[in-house]
Amino acid sequence: MKLSAKAGILSLLSVFIYGTADSAVAKDVEKKAATKPVAKQSVEKKTNAKNSTDPWWKHAVIYEIYPRSFADADNNGMGDIKGITQKLDYLKDLGVDALWITPCFPSPQVDFGYDISDYCDIAPEYGTLADFDELVAEAKKRNIRIIMDLVMNHSSDKHKWFEESRSSRTNPKRNWFVWRDPKSGPLPKNSSGAEDPKSPPNNWQALFGHSAWQWDPKTNQYYYHFFYPEQPDLNWRNGQVKKAMNDVARFWLDRGVAGFRLDAINTLYEVPSLKDNPVKPGKNAYGDPNMDDKYNYLLLPEIKGTMRDLRKVLNNYQDNPVLLGETTAERIEQLIAAYGKNNDEIQLPMDFRFAYINKLSASEFRNKIAEIDENEVGGQPTYVFSNHDIVRHYNRYGDGKNNDQIAKLTAAILLTTRGTPVMYYGEELGMENRDPERKEDVKDPIGILGWPEQKGRDGCRTPMQWNAAKNAGFSTANPWLPVAHNYKTHNVELEDKDPASILSFYKQLLSVRKKNTALKYGKYVALNEDDEHVLSYLRKRGGAAALVACNMTDQPRKVTLDLSKSGITVSEAKVLMASYSAPDSISASSFTLPPYAVLIADVGKSAN
Ligand code: GLC
Repeated sequence: MKLSAKAGILSLLSVFIYGTADSAVAKDVEKKAATKPVAKQSVEKKTNAKNSTDPWWKHAVIYEIYPRSFADADNNGMGDIKGITQKLDYLKDLGVDALWITPCFPSPQVDFGYDISDYCDIAPEYGTLADFDELVAEAKKRNIRIIMDLVMNHSSDKHKWFEESRSSRTNPKRNWFVWRDPKSGPLPKNSSGAEDPKSPPNNWQALFGHSAWQWDPKTNQYYYHFFYPEQPDLNWRNGQVKKAMNDVARFWLDRGVAGFRLDAINTLYEVPSLKDNPVKPGKNAYGDPNMDDKYNYLLLPEIKGTMRDLRKVLNNYQDNPVLLGETTAERIEQLIAAYGKNNDEIQLPMDFRFAYINKLSASEFRNKIAEIDENEVGGQPTYVFSNHDIVRHYNRYGDGKNNDQIAKLTAAILLTTRGTPVMYYGEELGMENRDPERKEDVKDPIGILGWPEQKGRDGCRTPMQWNAAKNAGFSTANPWLPVAHNYKTHNVELEDKDPASILSFYKQLLSVRKKNTALKYGKYVALNEDDEHVLSYLRKRGGAAALVACNMTDQPRKVTLDLSKSGITVSEAKVLMASYSAPDSISASSFTLPPYAVLIADVGKSAN
């Protein structure tokens, strides 16, 4: 499948579903900070003695929560902050270390929270700042950290920054957004052949359909929006914007958050010349001409300085706060560049390439892992299979017959390779996608605009499946989206009791990953690099070594290994866990894996 640079943001949609402080801002931030005494996190004490300098995120598993769909404490059909707090024991028991919560700030909810009208508060429909403080405190008791979503590229058109900006051409905030005059010179003709006097400054298109320029009759100029018109792009060439956003970061860090997931980070800057993008043949789901977005969707060097400055803000806080980037990259070099030459930019640039492969190919996985694992800046790999923008990987990788087994296989790859994995709520259950069947049921605006080719992202955002009761136990009210079809068989209550369930497999993996020195600290060593069917590797540190073997096919496969090349001399491998009923120990040089089976075994010095 051809990759696209936008995949992490949304091209997966089309493929699968588709300076000085501004005093008012500073005061606003201060006022809200004063509603609760500052709760800075204390330094993590429980790091392993041998790796006491490792930041916490190096050995963490991050779990993405879409708050609208996770747990509904007030039973109004929409998830909320208190709901998340009530489920912390579940998350602790599962074994995750940090929660990335997608935007839960005040918002008109055009893009379900990614259109923010106040960066320093909690949306009333999700709770209050006090509820949020309680969540942070309760999570901390369980050694779970909270990562917030920082949407830097754009605000909502209802944010007071934009309302001021659009009020007049001379407003002090005018230059906080990207305003331009209509195109001058020979004007393009409209459909009836007349010249269009309000022709947009260039031909750029929004990712969510149609022109990226919205005419504002009040001041007779266009403003730029990479996403919906209700999400005007902030002007990152204005130092005041940078200052204001850094203040937002401080506001949340002061409340005890452990870092930020950086939304749509590649789109912060546009080329100043505003050159037209090259047009390609054909039309997209929105009826617009296909385009090569080479001038408004690219990793401009300015992003790097902005990231370094944000890192400096984080570095003033204890406990190593982290940046988790929505770093979409067409080429591996671009992904590696996101760490920064001195590893001083984004610590965890998300690697969406697992999400793009969509076929169980041992060689493709092996290549992708090697490309990032060997990066020269020592950056931490950050693999992702599913998120709130893409079809759940239970469906993407599943073959319709062996989906549960395949879900275990992908879980093992995610959780035993070297790196900081990012899980998506419900993947631990094998939650499936549920796309809307009728246009009138679609909630995500791109699904309405692009129907039926583009069904939107509702399908991967359905309520968490807590039990087999009505609405999967998510809410007693009608949920904002219908639950996925498999909730009766794939839910927390049922799977918790079943040692062979996907949930039990995830729990076991998360626990083994924590306890086993090789899986926790070991380097990644590829094995049998010519094997097209079985992905095998070692995690190795000193005398500790773990072997992982994943049969990516629907046939039994014999695995023959020569571990002596990696300095391993044991003849027997002690099975740590397997997705089939494996014996306690097996030969370390030859064994057979059933279809889609995974084996994780200790082959360290102490194994025999
Ligand atoms: C990111 C988010 C996506 C959102 C977009 C605009 O890609 O993941 O959900 O619609 O940014 O903020």
